[in-house]
Amino acid sequence: MTLPATRRTVLLATGGAAAALTAACSNYGDNNSSSSSSSEKSAAAGQELAKTTDIPLGGGKIFGAEKVVVTQPTKDDFKAFSAICTHLGCTVGSVADGTIDCPCHGSKYHIADGSVAHGPAPKPLPAKQITVEGSTIKLT
Ligand code: FES
Repeated sequence: MTLPATRRTVLLATGGAAAALTAACSNYGDNNSSSSSSSEKSAAAGQELAKTTDIPLGGGKIFGAEKVVVTQPTKDDFKAFSAICTHLGCTVGSVADGTIDCPCHGSKYHIADGSVAHGPAPKPLPAKQITVEGSTIKLT
């Protein structure tokens, strides 16, 4: 738990620059070795994203570096969606009152299924795959 947390901290501290993650992976020693080459093409795949306690019940949290928003519409039911607005591609900015909100032109998406609650977004936020292991949420 400490190593991935450290790597995530580095990523967040640098504002999510892909170069930072690449450097962290190289330092960790798995960039060119035999163990996990298939997961490297997606920067955040398989990495711890959050603790379940980070995600408010009835709300959610946006992970800008990973471009993912994780919600908890009902107790212990966690959902993940792309954080890229389907209107013109802004990153959504907040989660409030049951919706994921885009700051650019006012689109809103339901936290339960990513469907459009308010336009101009033309379609839902695509779902992202996560796994919940104990209190840890990981991108898959
Ligand atoms: S890009 Fe999100 S509402 Fe326009």
